[in-house]
Amino acid sequence: MPRLIEPVLQEDEQVVEQSLRPSSFSEFVGQQRVKEQLSVFLQAARERGEALDHCLFYGPPGLGKTTLSHIIAKEMGTQVRVTTGPVLERPADLAGLLTNLQHGDILFVDEIHRLSSTVEEYLYPAMEDFRLDILIDKGAAARTLQLNLNRFTLVGATTRAGLLSSPLRSRFGVTLRLDYYSAEELVEILRRTAQLLGVVCTEDGLREIASRSRGTPRVANRLLRRVRDVAQVNGADKVTPELAHKALRLLEIDDYGLDDLDKRLMLALLEKFRGGPVGLGTLAVTVGEDEGTLEELCEPYLIRQGFLERTSRGRQATIRAFEHFGVRRNAADQTRLL
Ligand SMILES: Nc1ncnc2c1ncn2[C@@H]1O[C@H](COP(=O)(O)OP(=O)(O)OP(=O)(O)O)[C@@H](O)[C@H]1O
Ligand SMILES: [Mg+2]
Repeated sequence: MPRLIEPVLQEDEQVVEQSLRPSSFSEFVGQQRVKEQLSVFLQAARERGEALDHCLFYGPPGLGKTTLSHIIAKEMGTQVRVTTGPVLERPADLAGLLTNLQHGDILFVDEIHRLSSTVEEYLYPAMEDFRLDILIDKGAAARTLQLNLNRFTLVGATTRAGLLSSPLRSRFGVTLRLDYYSAEELVEILRRTAQLLGVVCTEDGLREIASRSRGTPRVANRLLRRVRDVAQVNGADKVTPELAHKALRLLEIDDYGLDDLDKRLMLALLEKFRGGPVGLGTLAVTVGEDEGTLEELCEPYLIRQGFLERTSRGRQATIRAFEHFGVRRNAADQTRLL
């Protein structure tokens, strides 16, 4: 079963997410710095009648990268075409998309760090000079054909900015990082979602859900949908903190928004390896998950909560983790951790 607190979009969620997606900056909560910068660049581009500079959004999943790309298109009064890095297998796939773009249109490339190097090279002149060099024929007869493109805006999104090649990175005029949301911001997002879904919630009820949503709007909205189910089955007419608490306990999400996998990871580290340090590979085998899942989906949040540290010798639990999970340290561990 997919994890409830997983920030990645789940298969059956696409339709509901679209219906909850804010369609203007005024509805887009938080990320103040990102919104301010984008608004200035958008206004300037609009006033000059130009396409917006290419933009790169990076940050953990579920924080609003796709949403922002749609808002940009709406503000520019242009169309957005959506694709992802791994789908663009051959240069022809890219050419097909690019040649169909009108002036100012947005090409949104999700998971842009997964573009193949051949496709990436075709993208450079397109981004820089709005030109495509197409190779026709092979061997002695080979020629390149130049195609001029309309001025478009590439919006790239990635959860792994570090994996982007530097030539690609340098071709973006605007690079913006999205950060986790505060509990207050999540409450605001949830208030809007509750209204759209027609669920009555008290402010404290929303707060209860927000505080366990790992700073991620996608998770917050998902938890609200599940809490709504529990409310319905219990015949409750509104979501109070007590009901939210009961529902989240039923869903096995603790006060910190940790789920079963987070807990298994921490308990393995604390009990089997006496707090570490231990290599990620060993931990992954111990909890029966792959390294990527632990590294990308569990660790960032555990680190942010101050339960885990990444050291040069491996993963290490903090004193706070021993306390929170109620695992006793022996004298040797105590000195090592201090
Ligand atoms: N700032 C925000 N205000 C209100 N709702 C938001 C905000 N950011 C995201 N959301 C909600 O969270 C959902 C997920 O956002 P989105 O799909 O844009 O994330 P993402 O960063 O593109 O994720 P991924 O990395 O998985 O592609 C949206 O459907 C939207 O309802
Ligand atoms: Mg997305």
